[in-house]
Amino acid sequence: MSKNNLPKRIAILISGRGSNMQAILQEIDHGILRGLAQPVLVFSNNPAAPGLEIAQAKEIPTQSLSSKGFKRSTFDKKVIDILEPYQPDLIVLAGYMRILSPLFIQHYPKKIINIHPADTKEHQGLGGYEWAYENQLKETKITVHYVDEGLDTGSIIQQEIVDLQGVESLEDVEKRGLAVEHKLYSKALKAIITTK
Ligand code: GRF
Repeated sequence: MSKNNLPKRIAILISGRGSNMQAILQEIDHGILRGLAQPVLVFSNNPAAPGLEIAQAKEIPTQSLSSKGFKRSTFDKKVIDILEPYQPDLIVLAGYMRILSPLFIQHYPKKIINIHPADTKEHQGLGGYEWAYENQLKETKITVHYVDEGLDTGSIIQQEIVDLQGVESLEDVEKRGLAVEHKLYSKALKAIITTK
């Protein structure tokens, strides 16, 4: 249980397929996040994100608003307004392909968490698996971190190594990486919730 014994209210932000979101929802249903977290909203800046349907099938509230054409801070202000009624304790970014404005980050201090498919000390921004593959790394590190105003510079919560020996394609790298992501994200969320 978290300290006040109430499950933490989490809002999950996605832009696409939502496999990390799905893994977290499974851990909330019958895994390590049971009783610790409650999904109050899945939001997407891409109304066509396949992950939205996965959440809807589980009867989790969803909202979406296309970010196309919006200035970063204008859009984020709208997102804050969407999130506000759900009173999230934590904002969980799961493949949310939009850099957050300082406005958004300052609105949720130490409450925004992200998963990055590389060691954030070694590689920032997009293409973490491509980077590992092209550099023929023997291993890479998945990172769960707090989000601050820099690009993948927030303090690290947990990391886990992905063994890349013998991989033959970028798809192999991604497959091994995602298997680690899907476990690590919930483990890190559990650590945050139980120590907060
Ligand atoms: C993951 O590799 C995550 O690390 C990165 O974006 C991808 C999202 O995948 N931030 P999914 O939407 O969770 O399947």
